[in-house]
Amino acid sequence: MYCGQFFNTALSQDYSLNVRYMAYQSYLTAPHFLYQLNGLDYSFAGKTVADIGTGVGILPYLLKDKNPSKIIGIDLDRNFLNAARYLANAENMGYINADGCNIPVKDCAFDAVFARYVFQHVNLSGIFLSEIKRIIKEGGLLVIVDIEDDMNIFYPDLPKSSKKLFGIYSEYQKLKGGDRFISKKLPAFLSSWGFKDIEIKPYALMFFKGRGESSKPEALKNAFLLLQNELELVKEDLLSRKLIGSVEFHKGLNDYFKFLNLEDNLLISKTEFLITCKK
Ligand SMILES: C[S@@+](CC[C@H](N)C(=O)[O-])C[C@H]1O[C@@H](n2cnc3c(N)ncnc32)[C@H](O)[C@@H]1O
Repeated sequence: MYCGQFFNTALSQDYSLNVRYMAYQSYLTAPHFLYQLNGLDYSFAGKTVADIGTGVGILPYLLKDKNPSKIIGIDLDRNFLNAARYLANAENMGYINADGCNIPVKDCAFDAVFARYVFQHVNLSGIFLSEIKRIIKEGGLLVIVDIEDDMNIFYPDLPKSSKKLFGIYSEYQKLKGGDRFISKKLPAFLSSWGFKDIEIKPYALMFFKGRGESSKPEALKNAFLLLQNELELVKEDLLSRKLIGSVEFHKGLNDYFKFLNLEDNLLISKTEFLITCKK
């Protein structure tokens, strides 16, 4: 219900499709994110917190009840921030439209900095990480959540058309300077930039259904919608760059939907990393 409120607010506004897709992604992943926040051995009360690549502000939204003294969401995308200002707003919250490589705040401004699903878009950029380091207080906390596509498991194997679509999506992200195989590279990178007490907590988002079973249709539906939303966000760009045709795009997506609804055993596991470290 808590995250449902966020989603209903997003839908009741006249936002662009991209903002809605992002809001839906945030809504679907929010319960697990809240669970992770609750599991961090850290009290946010009275602390200053920044969220790099905040999107539509799901972290500010979830963190507001933990009484930080200030939460600042930073993002390149003005449209996401406009939604964030509406969805997650309070006196102690603010938003800055800026590139994470050049953040207009003074050194050592924050007790804690988050970057969730952002490093996959900026690759191992020294400028990006040094800028994050600059704004964290000495001894302050950095929390990263990101994907690791090398640790995805599909059983049985994905349909060819879906595998192709996902492969093209991964190549596309790389073309834009990102990396869907980022998480395994981050600990060494953080260490080389002097971060300490690096803790890596991989976790698997796992879906299983037995033959003929449809015991968790909601989980499977969400697994599909999450991916569909992610792909819809980039669809026009994929098509205009001629990386894939419209028919192939939709076939890949439709076949994935059928795959999820197979009358057979099905296991999908996606591993992500929660990484915490100190400056
Ligand atoms: C997948 S979304 C994640 C949004 C949010 N952190 C969440 O967990 O729902 C990635 C966000 O990072 C932002 N982003 C990507 N590169 C960035 C950069 N160099 N500086 C600031 N924001 C960036 C995008 O605009 C987008 O809002």
